[in-house]
Amino acid sequence: MSSNLSPTDRAKFASAQKASSFVEDGMKVGLGTGSTAAWMVRCLAERVKNEKLRIQAVPTSLRTAKLATELGIKIATLDALGRLDLTIDGADEFDADLNLIKGGGGALLQEKIVAAASDKMIVIADVEKRVETMGQFPLPVEVIGFGWQTSQKLIEKILVSHDLGGRRISRRMLGDKPFVTDEGNFILDMHLGQIGDAPQLGKSLNQVPGVVENGLFINMCAVAVIGAPDGSVELQGKRSAI
Ligand code: 5RP
Repeated sequence: MSSNLSPTDRAKFASAQKASSFVEDGMKVGLGTGSTAAWMVRCLAERVKNEKLRIQAVPTSLRTAKLATELGIKIATLDALGRLDLTIDGADEFDADLNLIKGGGGALLQEKIVAAASDKMIVIADVEKRVETMGQFPLPVEVIGFGWQTSQKLIEKILVSHDLGGRRISRRMLGDKPFVTDEGNFILDMHLGQIGDAPQLGKSLNQVPGVVENGLFINMCAVAVIGAPDGSVELQGKRSAI
């Protein structure tokens, strides 16, 4: 499966393959979104086929639902399954405490709902996603369409009182049209450079009425499975747990 891949994709594949081996027969599993998560779905589908693994899965986007279904993974709604054993998802950045920035693929809302409903979240990523301080990757914030510019102004006011490296906000576009999430909302990308206090920022952003959710996943992830281009994999727990 991993021949002819770019170095980054080899790293993503390695982490996805390792993480998929943590799924056990009978588990209820959350399936993340993005290119790394897509590798994980493919690896899991192989196990379903070859090992007759019986799992029920909740996808975090229409894209992931389509891929999982095509590959023969049985999917269900979150409400049908309730609590999940495990969610495996990608990330755009992660730090030593396994706090994450997610939403580069625009699926942060369903991803956060599914992760919060899971006993354990495993993040899968290539080694380039590991950062000292989060914020280099633009932080996505999902806002409803109604009054989105007013929401943006309120967010701008909030950002002034936070320790950040930058404060520019742009609405995400897809070609010449605004990007629209699976829930029909917009994404505002915050170009923050570095985030001094990510937990506090996450809480403040969610105080704005038009904000549905932000891409900071604080204290949600238990383990990172980090892939390198040579195909090796490193497991990282939270710094606070060591
Ligand atoms: C989607 C996400 C993705 O997990 C994140 O953007 C990483 O994507 P990729 O694995 O393609 O690098 O949060 O909303």
